[in-house]
Amino acid sequence: MLMSANWDFSVEGKRVLITGGLGGIGSALAEGFVRHGAEVIVTGRAPDRAPPKGCRYEAVDLTNDADVNLLAERTGAIDTLIHCAGQIEREREMQPDGFNAVLDVHLTGALRLANAYRAGLAANGGAIINVASMFSYYGAPHIPAYAAAKAGVVSLTKSLALSFAEEGIRVNAIAPGWIRTPMTERGRADPEIRQKVLTRLPKGGDWADPDELCGTAVFLASSASRMITGVTIPVDGGYTAA
Ligand SMILES: NC(=O)c1ccc[n+]([C@@H]2O[C@H](COP(=O)([O-])OP(=O)(O)OC[C@H]3O[C@@H](n4cnc5c(N)ncnc54)[C@H](O)[C@@H]3O)[C@@H](O)[C@H]2O)c1
Repeated sequence: MLMSANWDFSVEGKRVLITGGLGGIGSALAEGFVRHGAEVIVTGRAPDRAPPKGCRYEAVDLTNDADVNLLAERTGAIDTLIHCAGQIEREREMQPDGFNAVLDVHLTGALRLANAYRAGLAANGGAIINVASMFSYYGAPHIPAYAAAKAGVVSLTKSLALSFAEEGIRVNAIAPGWIRTPMTERGRADPEIRQKVLTRLPKGGDWADPDELCGTAVFLASSASRMITGVTIPVDGGYTAA
């Protein structure tokens, strides 16, 4: 049993894999973990931009079981798995094929990754961090698949936390608020959506930079959070408090 004197907020030397690591939030998390001394592997669909400095890059299609299993073989055991890849398909989400495509990346992708890395994470007493959303809690009239997938991520996080507990693997999620990334460019440019967001945020709130998520992610990856599993932590500047 660890004594409280052993509380450790460090992720130095940990091997961390971040999906969607070329995207806005994923690359900020990668940079944050590198700054804190972790060894970071980022994944993407195609190397359309350079990986964050100091990170190894791996291409993977997260909707393909074999591809994800091969990724886990190539990288070997890790300490922390962060599933951050995701997409929105505004024009397709009301139709079953578009709906399934979005679920496949966010939700089934989380399960695929967890299964592929289970043994390696167990060997290291590892942690999984999924990325949820404000739409885990609220409806989204134009992106129903995205909202359903993100609500599913909260539920899957709880179920996996129970399933993997005996192996010493903790499973949590972060629900980011409104973050300045390519994914939200369209919403930020729409005055109606922008105003809706700002009205709900506590006074003085605004869209946040992706770097704001690093502190919570590092905490959840460190042994300082060893009593925390199965939860989703909103990092939203108070948006869900209203
Ligand atoms: N930006 C926000 O305000 C916000 C808020 C809440 C949650 N999120 C979530 O945070 C995560 C990152 O979002 P972001 O804002 O950085 O978006 P982003 O578009 O900048 O990055 C998403 C990344 O995921 C990758 N990706 C998408 N589908 C993939 C697939 N099938 N296989 C492999 N990679 C794939 C993309 O290539 C991209 O690099 C997503 O899960 C998103 O839903 C974002």
